[in-house]
Formats: sequence, structure tokens, C-alpha cells
Amino acid sequence: MSILVPDEVYPVATKNGQLSDEQKAARDRIYAAPLESLNPGDAQSFADQEMWWKFERLRAEDPVHYTAEDQSEHGAYWSITKWDDIIAVDTDTVRFSNEVSVSLALPGSNPSVLRMVGPDATPAEIREAEIRGMPSLLSMDPPAHGVHRGAVAEGVSPAALAEFEPLIRERIGAILDGLPIGEEFDWVDKVSMELTAMTLATLFGYPQEDRRQLTLWSDQLTTTPGPGRVVETMEEKDAAQIAFYKMFTKLIADRSAEEPKSDFISLMAHSPHMKDFTPAEIQGDAGVLLVGGNDTTRNTLTGSVYALSLFPEANEKLRANPKLIPSMVAETIRWQTPLAHMSRRAHVDAEVGGKLIKKGDRVIVWYVSGNRDDAKIERPNEYIIDRKNPRQHLSFGFGIHRCLGNRLAELQLRLTWEEILKRFPEINVVSEPVRNNSNFVKGYETMTVVIPRRI
Ligand code: HEM
Repeated sequence: MSILVPDEVYPVATKNGQLSDEQKAARDRIYAAPLESLNPGDAQSFADQEMWWKFERLRAEDPVHYTAEDQSEHGAYWSITKWDDIIAVDTDTVRFSNEVSVSLALPGSNPSVLRMVGPDATPAEIREAEIRGMPSLLSMDPPAHGVHRGAVAEGVSPAALAEFEPLIRERIGAILDGLPIGEEFDWVDKVSMELTAMTLATLFGYPQEDRRQLTLWSDQLTTTPGPGRVVETMEEKDAAQIAFYKMFTKLIADRSAEEPKSDFISLMAHSPHMKDFTPAEIQGDAGVLLVGGNDTTRNTLTGSVYALSLFPEANEKLRANPKLIPSMVAETIRWQTPLAHMSRRAHVDAEVGGKLIKKGDRVIVWYVSGNRDDAKIERPNEYIIDRKNPRQHLSFGFGIHRCLGNRLAELQLRLTWEEILKRFPEINVVSEPVRNNSNFVKGYETMTVVIPRRI
């Protein structure tokens, strides 16, 4: 299956390079809608892949776009959709604050925040607290941000990564050696989740045999409750949050009584600043450290197998020249954009792209759109594993909050592909993957594959 056509490559998977009638109708509908009705944060349009047409249209017609309260289930917000504007906002900590919920959260979707404001809060106070979100290193401005980031940064330093490398490689080898041959299986569950769970357990100094509990907590923390989801009710989500923080608090207490080690929890426990952190900040940091490296790396790994199946010529190039693995990894991170957006809030009235953003307004930097901006990236809808500057992408953010784990993510993906190429001549994607319906975590719930034989 190839999505390549001579003049245009679409951002969605197509049959023989042509949009289906359904895809055409969706694109036409989005182009015909009044501009002011466009709500790129609608989670369903991520599951249906219709968000691509919204971003395509916004980049061309209204790159700094306002979605009003009555058009959005998330409340009013600005969308920044072009590369240069995203960088301008991301690097401007004077005009734009990170003291805001990390994602475009739905009202009532985070019980921890509701608990923080207490039972007597007014609806306006509750909404304000929800927009603020949990304080964490990702939701802080300088100077507090530097203190919180500094407390854990050593956990992913070059020295720590050098120490992890043989361990990660060995674990990946074990996962790959256990895969069925000639039988359909879910790549997400058997490979992507296993690998990221193992790494997460290492980063937390958590027992390897209980690693999938970390994955479960991470998924529960990021899911908006609903039927058939990993948490179906707000009560279930709340119980999961409480259980995770209880475990984290206990581990912090245990580690502070032990000799310092290089895992995140020990680093936090022994940080000289820890005594100044509030319980809410510790909860917030714990959540970011749990979630930050989990579904992001998971979805990139699934995305790499999927992208190579959509672009067979990239697959052939990679197999002919394994030296392309590092640039293939970077290109996958751009093409996949595992976190579709981040939030900011205007500190002051600020002009971006000719629009006036008012003090206090929420601003969403859509990395998923910036990574497809053809003013910056050549042939952005294509998956080109030998691009000139493959690390030129927005997927890790920009500025002081740039992903702390970016080198670790690249390392895991590089090692996985080095080990895959030693073992399997092909991995065949059997059907379209099932996508999650989130406007934040851009990824896959399942993807069925077959590995016909070993090398
Ligand atoms: C492909 C994989 C990954 C992607 C796409 C990704 C993406 C991001 C993005 C977009 C941000 C926010 C940047 C901003 O607001 O400017 C971020 C922050 C962060 N990421 Fe990652 N991430 C990945 C893997 C990881 C891993 C493996 C870890 C594990 C340690 C991690 C830990 C963090 C932390 C702690 C932050 C907060 C940094 C700060 O606020 O200073 N990430 N990541």
C-alpha cells in the first residue's frame, strides 16, 4: 500500500494515492464550514483523522485562530498552527506562561484539581483551577521551573543514558525474541507498551515485574473517562490517581532513607529543594514523569512500523542501509507528532500573527500542524527517512520546556530498530491501526501485524 501520488501526498492514508469519497466529503465539509466554527481541539476529529483538513485550512486562511466558548467543549482558546508562530510563542516566557493545564482539558476531567479547590468552590473558581491544572515542572514558569527540572534532569543525563543502553538493548532483544512468527498479533500491546513499560520501571526504580501497573496508571491519568475506556467513570479515574500518588509518596519516603541513586524518585527524594515542594507540586511532577515518556515513545514506535508500511520505498531504503536508523527515528517523531499540542496562557495582551491575544487567554501550540507546515518543511506529508535535517521538528517542543527525555526517546527507538533489523526481514501491518480519540496524545490503541519469518 502506498499513499504516494505524483503531485500531492495527503496527510491521511489513502488507497492508491486517492482520497475515498468519505475522505473527500470530510475535507469538503471542513472547507465549507464558517471559519469561526472550526474547533481543531475536537477529539473525535483526531480519531476520524479529519483534524488534518482543519489544520490545512487554518494554516492557509487563519493561522492564529480563535475558537469561542460556544464552539468548543473545552472552553475558548487560540490555536497557533504555523511553524514560526509556534516557535515565537514557545520561546517567549515573558508574554506566555506555562502556568496552565498541560492540555486542552475538558471541564471536570481532572478529579485531582477538583479535590484541590475543595467542596465550597464556586463554578467559576473550579473552572479557573481546571484551566490552571496541577502545578508540575511542565506547568511552571521560571524560576520555579528550573528548580523542578533540575531536581530530576540527571536521571536522563548522557551518563545515565550510557548506563541504560545495554540494559534497554537486552530487554528489547528479549521482547522481540518472544514474538510469534506467522501469526497475527497486536504490536501496540506486545512491543510498544512492553518496551516503554520496562524503561519507565527503570527510570522510576520500580519492580520490573509490576511495570505494566505504571503503564496502566499513566493511561488512566491521561484518559477522559467514558464507556469502554481504561477508566469509565470519574470515580475510577480518581481512585487511580490516588493509588498512583500514594505509591509515589511511599517510594519518595523509602528512597530518602536510602543512599542516593540515579532513578527519578531517588533524585527527587535527595534534592536539596524537595523540602520546599508542595504536595500538589510533587503530585504534578510525579504525573509528568510518569506520563511524559510513556505513550509518546509507545506511539512513535507503533508509528514507525505503520509509516514504513505506508511508504514502502522508505522501508526498502532502511533495510538496505541501517545507518539511516537515527534519521528514520527523527523523521518518525516528526511525522507522528505523539503529543499534538501544548498549552500556554497569555501573561499580557500579546500580538501573534497579526491577532491580538488578550491577557489570560488560553493559547494552544499545535505541534501536529507546525510539523506539516510546508513553509518550513519540504513535502511535509511525506515520510522521508533521509531528510537533510531530520531533527528539525516541533514534536519535542521548543524553549525551556523542551522535552527532558528527548535523547532517551531517540535512544529507545534507535536500539529497537537496530534489534528489529537483525531479526525480521519484514513486519506486515494487516489492517489500519485503531487510533485513540484524543486531541493531545496522538496515537494508536491497537495495530495488528504479522511477522512472516525470522532472518
Ligand atoms: C517521542 C517521545 C517524546 C515526545 C514526542 C515528547 C514530547 C514532549 C513535549 C512536546 C514536551 C513539552 C515541550 C514544551 O512544552 O515546550 C515534553 C516535555 C517533557 N518530557 Fe517529553 N516527549 C517524549 C519522550 C519523553 C521521555 C522518554 C521522557 C522521560 C523522561 C519525557 C519526559 C518529559 C518531561 C519530564 C517533560 C517536561 C519538561 C519541562 O517542562 O521542562 N519525554 N515532552
